Amino acid sequence: MSAMKKYKDLVEELRSYEGLASMFAEAAAGIDAAGDSEAIEAARVAHLGRKSKLSQLLRSIPELPNEEKPVVGKYGNKARAALEQALADRKKEIEGVQLEHRLATEQVDITLPGEPFPRGHLHIINQTLWEIEDIFAGLGYRIAEGPEVESDYYNFTALNTPEGHPARSSHDTFFVDGKEDVLLRTHTSPVQIRLMEKEEPPIYAIMPGRVYRRDSDATHTPMFHQIEGLAIDEHITMADLKGTLETFMRAIFGADRVIRLRPHFFPFTEPSVEMDVSCMICGGAGCRSCKNSGWLEILGAGMVDPNVFGFVDYDPDLVQGFAFGMGVERIAMLKHGMTDLRMFYDNDLRFIKQF
Ligand code: DAH
Repeated sequence: MSAMKKYKDLVEELRSYEGLASMFAEAAAGIDAAGDSEAIEAARVAHLGRKSKLSQLLRSIPELPNEEKPVVGKYGNKARAALEQALADRKKEIEGVQLEHRLATEQVDITLPGEPFPRGHLHIINQTLWEIEDIFAGLGYRIAEGPEVESDYYNFTALNTPEGHPARSSHDTFFVDGKEDVLLRTHTSPVQIRLMEKEEPPIYAIMPGRVYRRDSDATHTPMFHQIEGLAIDEHITMADLKGTLETFMRAIFGADRVIRLRPHFFPFTEPSVEMDVSCMICGGAGCRSCKNSGWLEILGAGMVDPNVFGFVDYDPDLVQGFAFGMGVERIAMLKHGMTDLRMFYDNDLRFIKQF
């Protein structure tokens, strides 16, 4: 059926202005009567939508007799524009009323207490790190950091560990694929070199961070944390090293701890020592934790080897220094009586929440 036939009655009705006028009046009344957003939308569909009388009329214009086209076009479009405006005005009015209503009814009492949300805390490893950092900060040390992806030069060579040196093989190094001289640092000692390259003595710094080794059992994880220490100045002796370590051990493990130094070997210190602390569990009498020796092995240390100074252009006749390095996990385990290092990284909240 042609549109003309289909809308015949309607068009007939609207041929006169009165027809358009009554259509307009009906639509306008519908818009005025709409009391909320849904009613407004319904009025829009009914009076301006595709199937509304007005739209049908406007669509039929091409099929009207020529002399009627301009008249119906002109007044029809005027009517549509006016109705669109009326709709927009009414919508605004309603929104205004709705806002007033919401403002009046939805008052927020800002004096009510807020909803508490659970608060996390630092992981035990970070707590231990911060505690160690605090102690050394109190001794005048500052904190320095270096990259975890390191070059062979900083991790070994400049630490007096040349290619082929047997000490390298004890490190179970992760190398970066396809790159012979790029690796994950196996210790924090390379930060010593980076610091000395950049700065002139005196240096008093500790260097915390993650280190990596191909190792995994109850006392080893492939990633763990170390803190390195470095003191470079004039007239530094081994007595300074011993006093510093003892002060630190007493601060972290209790005032009645004593330490002992045993001769050892590290490529970058000469002489080198390992430091033990008297067992804080049995007080030195001997127990399972200290394997009945009364002593716990804690860290490696020594006087900075003059060869290392050679790599950073320091004159060993003018400055001396000591260095030490320790595992943070080991200290945390001893402090809290833990037996399995892997628990630190299992992310079991029952464990983590205890600290
Ligand atoms: N870098 C050594 C390691 O990971 C630990 C160490 C020993 C660091 C002696 C030092 C040191 O600074 O003097 O096994």
